Amino acid sequence: MRSHIRALLITPVVLLIALAVGAAQEAGSDGGPKPGASGGDALKPLAPHKVLMYWHDQTLSQLNLALSKKDEEKVERNAWLLAELAAINQRHRDDARFREFAAKVRENAVSLAEAAKAKDFERGKGLAKTIRDTCDACHEVYEE
Ligand code: HEC
Repeated sequence: MRSHIRALLITPVVLLIALAVGAAQEAGSDGGPKPGASGGDALKPLAPHKVLMYWHDQTLSQLNLALSKKDEEKVERNAWLLAELAAINQRHRDDARFREFAAKVRENAVSLAEAAKAKDFERGKGLAKTIRDTCDACHEVYEE
């Protein structure tokens, strides 16, 4: 008799837990990373790679324009942006060589930001060229 009552009480609790677990799995089952999610996919890029490439291109153009005008603030801002875009690019492929190219863009962009801060435009131009060469090198391997 008592065990019968206990069963009546426990069954709905077990059902509720099962429903909650099911709902949680449902929420994460569309495969897409959730912005701001704290799971292992929190750093997975959301934007398509071509969009990331578009902004690589725009940023490097703005950077070169600012270099030609010796506008150190604009050079620095664009260099930092390019460094962060390259960091996102590193996460786009689980491929050591791909990541190496993106890491090289990132490192040279950081150096370029530092050169801009020091108003060393000659060094800046050299670094911008090294970055362009790295873009081209990666495209040669990976662009269809
Ligand atoms: C680590 C490899 C890698 C690096 C570094 C890289 N790209 Fe790309 N890029 C690609 C790949 C792969 C494609 C082919 C299309 C795609 O997957 O987005 C591409 C395509 C492009 C495109 C064409 C996008 C389109 O709409 O078809 C542009 C423009 C571009 N990259 C600019 C740049 C610039 C500028 C840089 C350097 C500042 C750069 N990329 C650095 C891998 C790279």
